[in-house]
Amino acid sequence: MAKPSAFQRITSATEALRRAGVDVISLAMGESGFSTPEWISEAACRAVSTGQMRYTEMTGTLALKEAVRQKYERENDLRYEIDEIIISTGATQALSNAMRATLHPGDEVILLVPYYSPYADMIVAQGGVPVCVLAADDTGAIPLGALEAAISSRTRWIILNSPCNPSGVVLSTADLAALAVLLRRHPDILIISDDIYEKTVFEGAAKNIVNVAPDLKDRTVVVNGVSKTYAMTGWRIGYALGPRDLMAAMGYVQTISSWTPSAVGQVAAEAALTGPQEFLESWRQAYSRRRDILVGFLNQIEGLSCRYPSGAFYAFPSIEKLIGRRTPGGTLIEDDVALATYLLNSAAVSTVPGSIFGARHHLRMSFVVSEGQLTAACQRIASAIARLS
Ligand SMILES: Cc1ncc(COP(=O)(O)O)c(C=O)c1O
Repeated sequence: MAKPSAFQRITSATEALRRAGVDVISLAMGESGFSTPEWISEAACRAVSTGQMRYTEMTGTLALKEAVRQKYERENDLRYEIDEIIISTGATQALSNAMRATLHPGDEVILLVPYYSPYADMIVAQGGVPVCVLAADDTGAIPLGALEAAISSRTRWIILNSPCNPSGVVLSTADLAALAVLLRRHPDILIISDDIYEKTVFEGAAKNIVNVAPDLKDRTVVVNGVSKTYAMTGWRIGYALGPRDLMAAMGYVQTISSWTPSAVGQVAAEAALTGPQEFLESWRQAYSRRRDILVGFLNQIEGLSCRYPSGAFYAFPSIEKLIGRRTPGGTLIEDDVALATYLLNSAAVSTVPGSIFGARHHLRMSFVVSEGQLTAACQRIASAIARLS
């Protein structure tokens, strides 16, 4: 039977503390602190009041596919036909569809460390093997030599995620162009570009590998969704764009796992993609200020060091220098899980251990909470770390 992950254990411990009345500040959240804009919710309410609550077309409504098609043409300069798009129950289902539709036991999928942990779980669930490639340094630049050495005759996919959860690294055009040169030498490898954080970028704009190397379009699946951009995690709508045959196979495995995506969620997602977008800039600026507060504070704490993430809403400080210290009660901080547990129990701040992303000397801290809460969390972390010896 599957065991709960470190993330689930920290989440359950956080909930238990809250139930006991402790005022825990969560920096463990993977979703926006804003609310879904009201015009999106209103569109969903109208759909409910006009009875749009039945099964939809299996791989999504034509109206939402058309909205996705137009968004990609307008904003991303990428052109797809309707039958090259499928709508899913979150980007999660789109990613899992891709693995389920293509992997045979023993097939390998390359992940760049640190990686969004469910990728590895989805691969393993199909009998596949995640092959983790470690960045050469902490800049997040793609380690091309190590990557090419990791490719074997069983390599089926490489998964790219830019901006990256958890590191916040945004792949540059130069990174993507160099990767494209490598991938052209390996024509059988499929590519996933998980662009779910594309709108949360602090300098410049995120690029997709297909923008940089259009010849890779026929083996790339672009995955995206409304969860992060529009604060719509609970509406559960994501989508994938890619080669027709692959989309058909992914659509098939989707129908046997969930039939259709939520009808109301799809109406809301359509309203998100076709409605006003200007407010996103004020959200981006708010995240940027919060990033500066959190990272600036973390870098003042002896024992922590943190790069400024270029995108997404997570700081990913190195905690390496704190390993081996002891809590006031004498417990050894032997790893990231021990430090996250200590911060939760003694500072009432929840964070996510880096090991679940393949990087055990880090913690992930999100900056989606208000500036006041973020400052309070930083003060608590600083004083808890100062008590270590
Ligand atoms: C990198 C990445 N991809 C995909 C997802 C899943 O998003 P969704 O809510 O659309 O399923 C997440 C959610 O945290 C994520 O961080």
